[in-house]
Amino acid sequence: MPATAVIGLQWGDEGKGKVIDHLAARADVVVRFAGGNNAGHTVFVGAEKYVLHLIPGGILHHGSINLIGRGVVVNLAALLKEMEGLEARGIPVAERLRIDGRAHLIFPYHMQMDGMAEVWRGAGRIGTTGRGIGPAYSDKVARTGIRLSDLLDPETFRTRLKAAMAEKTAVIEKVYGQVAESYEHLFEETRRAVERLRPLIVDGGALLRHAHAAGKRILFEGAQGTMLDLDAGTYPFVTSSWTGVWGIAGGTGFPPRSLDRAYAVSKAYCTRVGEGPFPTELSGELERRLREQGKEYGATTGRPRRCGWFDAVQARYAAALNGLDGVILTNLDVLYGFDPIRVAVAYRLPGGKVVTEYPAEHPALGEIEPVYEELAGWQDDISGALSFGELPAVTRAYVRFLERQMGVPIASLSVGPGRDQMFDGESAAAASWVKA
Ligand code: IMP
Repeated sequence: MPATAVIGLQWGDEGKGKVIDHLAARADVVVRFAGGNNAGHTVFVGAEKYVLHLIPGGILHHGSINLIGRGVVVNLAALLKEMEGLEARGIPVAERLRIDGRAHLIFPYHMQMDGMAEVWRGAGRIGTTGRGIGPAYSDKVARTGIRLSDLLDPETFRTRLKAAMAEKTAVIEKVYGQVAESYEHLFEETRRAVERLRPLIVDGGALLRHAHAAGKRILFEGAQGTMLDLDAGTYPFVTSSWTGVWGIAGGTGFPPRSLDRAYAVSKAYCTRVGEGPFPTELSGELERRLREQGKEYGATTGRPRRCGWFDAVQARYAAALNGLDGVILTNLDVLYGFDPIRVAVAYRLPGGKVVTEYPAEHPALGEIEPVYEELAGWQDDISGALSFGELPAVTRAYVRFLERQMGVPIASLSVGPGRDQMFDGESAAAASWVKA
């Protein structure tokens, strides 16, 4: 039975929530391996809208186990709130959710430090989601982090929290001039939270390896996107985790060679939230129209997203790094009325050199000029199309052009937010996708 990965090809917000939901219907285990509640995965079930931040998308389907892997950073208050929200809508969360005890925790001091670090960065700010992601991962790497399993024994937790807070409180109060939360309050609150979660804590890696050996279908749910990856992305304007396929083994305990298939989700254009280079970014009326037609506002922070044309140089790079079996192209319907549609196929570097490979050094990205090809657009509403063949000829030509540019087949397409607004691509990749 396949172990399949679905990750983001661009800067996040590609519509992974819907794609995961589609595959989760057949999965036995759905797993988050990186990031935290900086993510926001939106799923429509009929007219009902669900926004998931930490809990894997399979939670909406009965029959699947949903694992928060060890590579995720968990804000306990946010997790409990998300669980309660789903329970109030009739979803049996405790039955379907498991959390790896090795997952590190986000505490209020991490969020406080996230906000203050942004202030100190001034003009060089990253535009983080303010959820404490960077500071929590920093603590993990510095070996001062606290893991979920550390909470199970009150004395271990007390010792680790005291040690962490002595340093954090000094930084928050003496460097940032802020008031830090009291140790006693945080200790008591966290202890209460962990009692609710205790039955859900597992060794996630072991769970996955056993599930795989038993022939179960496993789905790895990416968060953010390849260009926000700590190593592969537009550093330092990235998140603090490994968002690509390479993050799965480290973030779960599932052996890398056991992964069967990898797909990436990409919009038919580009968006980005937060700061950092974005070569094909639009401005003025074109950007405003794309944002309105695509309802491009962050699911987690509500921030308006920066919008631009599809960047084939970036997409080729991200596709090659992830070693993809196929791409799932989303939001194709959003492009109606744009004519011509432009796609960046190369970059002109400062000095005039034209390259088709993504440049390694990001400072160049701020100054590059995209080299565009223009394609005919369409005026029709395509959100009712039920198959690739029903799309207008110019839309099909656009999809084939992206496919050739990326060098990866488009396995599936999405033309709207609904569960049924999705169909297979025309290439052979569609066939293996159906079995994923
Ligand atoms: P952080 O992950 O909150 O530290 O934010 C770092 C960068 O990643 C910022 O540019 C955020 O806007 C971006 N980011 C984090 N999570 C997401 C996401 O789920 N979608 C899109 N951008 C994100």
